Amino acid sequence: MRNVPPRLAGHPDRLRWNAKYEGGADAPPHPLLQRALALPPPDGPVLDLASGPSGSALAAASAGRRVTAVDISEVALDRLAAEAERRGLAGLITLVHADLGEWRPEPERFALVLCTGYWDAGLFGPAAEAVLPDGGVLAWEAFTAGAACGRPARPQLPAEWCLKAGEPAALLPPGFTVLSQVDVLETGKRRLLARRSPT
Ligand SMILES: C[S@@+](CC[C@H](N)C(=O)[O-])C[C@H]1O[C@@H](n2cnc3c(N)ncnc32)[C@H](O)[C@@H]1O
Repeated sequence: MRNVPPRLAGHPDRLRWNAKYEGGADAPPHPLLQRALALPPPDGPVLDLASGPSGSALAAASAGRRVTAVDISEVALDRLAAEAERRGLAGLITLVHADLGEWRPEPERFALVLCTGYWDAGLFGPAAEAVLPDGGVLAWEAFTAGAACGRPARPQLPAEWCLKAGEPAALLPPGFTVLSQVDVLETGKRRLLARRSPT
């Protein structure tokens, strides 16, 4: 795809996820994306954090949204780029190859900020601040701490990758209204939909 920035080259997340995506994996749009778009958010672009090859980014672009997709795996971003090209959507999708441990979005920029399958408490606040204040939407799904001992058990899940009780809603900055926060028992994940209003 692209030159890999030296500080990403040996990053364990990049190596692990590149290996997974090289094996090929389906990337259907996430149900949370569909729910968020149906609200709908105000006019404006979508940010897809830890996007993977992202059927969600493709679906949002198909709905006419500009999309910024951020991921540490260039294999995933290459797959997204190829599929966007095939569908005539490449002009709507901006790819950002970055470590979300460091990368932060511009505040008040996105009508919808989506993150599914990834949790980093340090990212959540800046991601919420990136939502447009006039009705923008934040949509997030991540594992709960209970998933480590749920069914199927995932004891290898580090605690910092998991939501604690009440999170992520409990971490929202002022100005957000929680539309829903539900646990999906089969997956051990929790889904948040929240809308931002001017404070
Ligand atoms: C479980 S997948 C979720 C992909 C997609 N959002 C979905 O719901 O199918 C986790 C994603 O996070 C990305 N990721 C993991 N660590 C990362 C990091 N430090 N910075 C940026 N992306 C990262 C992986 O490359 C992978 O695409």
